[in-house]
Amino acid sequence: MSNNIVVAIDGYSSCGKSTLAKALAKKLHFIYVDSGAMYRAVALYFLRNNIDLTNHEQIADALNNIHLNFHSRDYKTHITLNDEEVSDEIRQMHVADKVSTIAAIHEVRVAMVKQQQRMGKSKNIIMDGRDIGTVVFPNAQVKLFMTADPKIRAERRYKELLPTNPEITLEEIFDNLAHRDYQDTTRKESPLTRAEDAIILDNTDLSPDEQLLFALSHIEPFLAD
Ligand code: CDP
Ligand code: CDP
Repeated sequence: MSNNIVVAIDGYSSCGKSTLAKALAKKLHFIYVDSGAMYRAVALYFLRNNIDLTNHEQIADALNNIHLNFHSRDYKTHITLNDEEVSDEIRQMHVADKVSTIAAIHEVRVAMVKQQQRMGKSKNIIMDGRDIGTVVFPNAQVKLFMTADPKIRAERRYKELLPTNPEITLEEIFDNLAHRDYQDTTRKESPLTRAEDAIILDNTDLSPDEQLLFALSHIEPFLAD
């Protein structure tokens, strides 16, 4: 039996999951997988190809034609969609506006979860998303459930997107986060919910360094000497 360590991080939109996951991966030399980037890349493909979200045959064909890969460069994780680098485009608002609707489709979830479980089979891994501790890795050694004040989350995301999107407004971001959180927590399949054994991490008043220390204190007991 494989004895690799899996750290599952779930939580609301823009509450610091990927910041924490990347810092942990760097510190512990674990692999980091951003499962949200996978759903965003699928959404981008569906948008570009005008996939009819009510047509199951079209959805199945599209999923067969999507090949996602992660690679690291300059200490950053990049994602490719059929060999095209899409790491920046998947963060744009036209993708953010549609991703939760597409991520709620049964076939999309089945395909992504299968790939995610394969990635965590034999390697030490940190994965963040919405259903990692509940569905993808219910036996993960460490589960964190992250949250933060919605206004603070919107302000943080606004600061991040403004330099490349000067026309964006704080209100637009706040509404997008609220809408996605609503869709993600109320969908039928794999809704965002805290696994019973997940540790809550509210980082409203925590810096990235402070949240890192909190998470490390829960992971260290599982690390070999
Ligand atoms: O970074 P942000 O919190 O804005 O979102 P993300 O992690 O990039 O995820 C984008 C969307 O993908 C979420 O709003 C969910 O609808 C979906 N998602 C999901 O359904 N399951 C996951 N494991 C990860 C993301
Ligand atoms: O992955 P997720 O969507 O949950 O959030 P993120 O992309 O890690 O964080 C959203 C923004 O909040 C980033 O600009 C982070 O630098 C910032 N952040 C922060 O200011 N303080 C924290 N404790 C965590 C994240």
